[in-house]
Amino acid sequence: MRLMGVVLAGLVTLALVNLALVNLAAVDSPVALAGSSTPVQPRIVGGASTRTAEHPWMVALTTATSASAYCAGALIGADRVVTAAHCITDYRPDGIRVIAGRTDLRSSDGQERQVLRYWIHPDYTSPEHGDDVAVLFLDRALPYPTLPLETDPGAYWAGAPATVLGWGYTAERGPSSSELRSADVVLVADSDCAATYRQFDQRAMVCAGTARGGSDACYGDSGGPLVAGGRLIGVTSWGSGCARAGRPGVYTRVASYAAEIDAQRPEPVELRRDYSDYWDWPGRLG
Ligand code: ARG
Repeated sequence: MRLMGVVLAGLVTLALVNLALVNLAAVDSPVALAGSSTPVQPRIVGGASTRTAEHPWMVALTTATSASAYCAGALIGADRVVTAAHCITDYRPDGIRVIAGRTDLRSSDGQERQVLRYWIHPDYTSPEHGDDVAVLFLDRALPYPTLPLETDPGAYWAGAPATVLGWGYTAERGPSSSELRSADVVLVADSDCAATYRQFDQRAMVCAGTARGGSDACYGDSGGPLVAGGRLIGVTSWGSGCARAGRPGVYTRVASYAAEIDAQRPEPVELRRDYSDYWDWPGRLG
């Protein structure tokens, strides 16, 4: 009870401080808040460094022999990762490693998993033809929170804010980043995207970018998540260059595939021969 009192008092104090800050900001302009926020370093594809702790379902894909990420993915179940089909068609399952909880790929933080098996959308041929989605099944569950799939087709309104994440190129000609980065983008109207890219298919894809360019996914970010409202709404798929004005990034439209993705489950666990866990199993001997 004492402890609860202290915690409550703390919360109330925090709330008051917050109110004070909001009021200050309203009166003095946003500059009043500048001192309290960490400096954001603008980069060429926009955005800034972030940490996997803030996006715990974010995973890097590396090959069995390299430490840098060639693609990314999102954890949608303890042992399931959504990524792009084009990220895995060149590899066998045992040639791909999944790394979670590692903001900086030069470190050994977090956990690594192997891929037992994968599902590639059966209609996939190339990113520009759509269906650029795949699910990886891991050898063991990862102890990180998962990202829910967007299932509502109505969630894709033009102008909706979204975030794209990855360890990919920080400029159109590289290099890639060893630290996780995120960029803020907005969803682009299907009609605008269709006018930009003749390959655009609004059933299979959704576009996101910024009017002036400057914030976008780039090479190496493929397979990674486009997140809005705390849900996976897109999978980084393709684009024309990176962060060019009038050239938004194109993402697999997750809501169109959500049921199919969700239906992909790891194979049932082998029938147990050891019944020792079942201590109160009625058929137990002794
Ligand atoms: N295909 C790229 C990859 O394999 C992703 C390109 C995304 N491009 C963009 N401008 N949003 O990593």
